[in-house]
Amino acid sequence: MKNLIVMVFVSLSANVLMATAQMPTPWTNPYFFYHYNAPLPPQKTNEMDVGNKHLSDYGDQLISDSLGAHSLLISTCVRELRTTKADLAQTTQRLNDTYTEMESIKDELNNVMDTVDDLKKIVNERTSPIVDIGKMPTSCDDLQQMGNRRNGFFSVLAQNKIQTVHCNFAKPKTDQNYQNLIGYVDVKSSPVYFFAQKSTTFTLIDGVIPFEIFRLNVGNAINSTGVFVAPTPGTYSFSFSAISNVNTLARVDMQMKNATSDWFKIGQAFGQPITETLTMQFTLQLAKSDQIRLILKEGGIHDRTDVGFGPWTHFVGLLLEEDIF
Ligand SMILES: *[C@@H]1O[C@H](CO)[C@@H](O)[C@H](O)[C@H]1NC(C)=O
Ligand SMILES: *[C@@H]1O[C@H](CO)[C@@H](O)[C@H](O)[C@H]1NC(C)=O
Ligand SMILES: *[C@@H]1O[C@H](CO)[C@@H](O)[C@H](O)[C@H]1NC(C)=O
Repeated sequence: MKNLIVMVFVSLSANVLMATAQMPTPWTNPYFFYHYNAPLPPQKTNEMDVGNKHLSDYGDQLISDSLGAHSLLISTCVRELRTTKADLAQTTQRLNDTYTEMESIKDELNNVMDTVDDLKKIVNERTSPIVDIGKMPTSCDDLQQMGNRRNGFFSVLAQNKIQTVHCNFAKPKTDQNYQNLIGYVDVKSSPVYFFAQKSTTFTLIDGVIPFEIFRLNVGNAINSTGVFVAPTPGTYSFSFSAISNVNTLARVDMQMKNATSDWFKIGQAFGQPITETLTMQFTLQLAKSDQIRLILKEGGIHDRTDVGFGPWTHFVGLLLEEDIF
């Protein structure tokens, strides 16, 4: 009976010790170590055989010691187990916390992905692949086909001019407010205008009237020789005025030359003798390199800039509109 109890304890201890092999505490406890390794009391088989229950004092003492050692071992193990259980609970809680946190991060990520999807849709609606329609745009429809999506003012080609239109791409193409014409754009590749004057009297018949004073000569289309050369095709405006010479009349022709016709008369100005004003104005469609000049046909034009008189001769020209296409 005693041996059975001892065996049970020994095997129990061994199991527990194996289970807690990573925790050397019971083994390093000197009290436990001594008693656990103490030899077991000798077996008394004869006493067991006759069913005699009396045990010697020496045997009782050994069993009592052994029991004490094992009881200590068990309580140590139980303590360890409790600690382990508490640790495990803590770990479980942390795992749970981590899990909860992960779930909320997942939710947030889903929200962010939804937002990104929405933004993608908006961006795709507003921008679209750049399309080459093979020509300059002439309407809001062209602009839309090219990929424009935002309402606003646009420049489009209208015949050989530029127009400003307002496009409302949110409206159907059939709506009258889909495209609204604001007006044509007066655009020039570069400006051309001049203001020339004379400082002396001119009397050379059939001579080109030269100019000595240039208040302005933007674009350099004319110089002191008095020959204007159109630098760019477009509509030009010219204005000339002078006074006849003191004792003679004045007759002046404005002439033009183009690619196919040599100098020909556009118009004539005439003034009676005694400083009478002669004047003429022209608006002309010119091609590039077409030329304009003034020729004295009869008498003379009077001018001076000394003693507080003059100048009386004025020649003005400007590019009204350029044919940029
Ligand atoms: C986490 O703990 C809460 C209570 O703190 C509980 O309701 C929930 O079921 C636990 N979740 C998991 C996955 O264990
Ligand atoms: C003035 O202009 C004419 C016509 O373009 C040109 O033939 C001439 O050389 C120019 N003269 C000067 C001094 O620039
Ligand atoms: C030159 O001017 C003449 C007379 O106005 C016109 O008949 C002719 O077509 C012009 N040439 C060019 C190339 O414009």
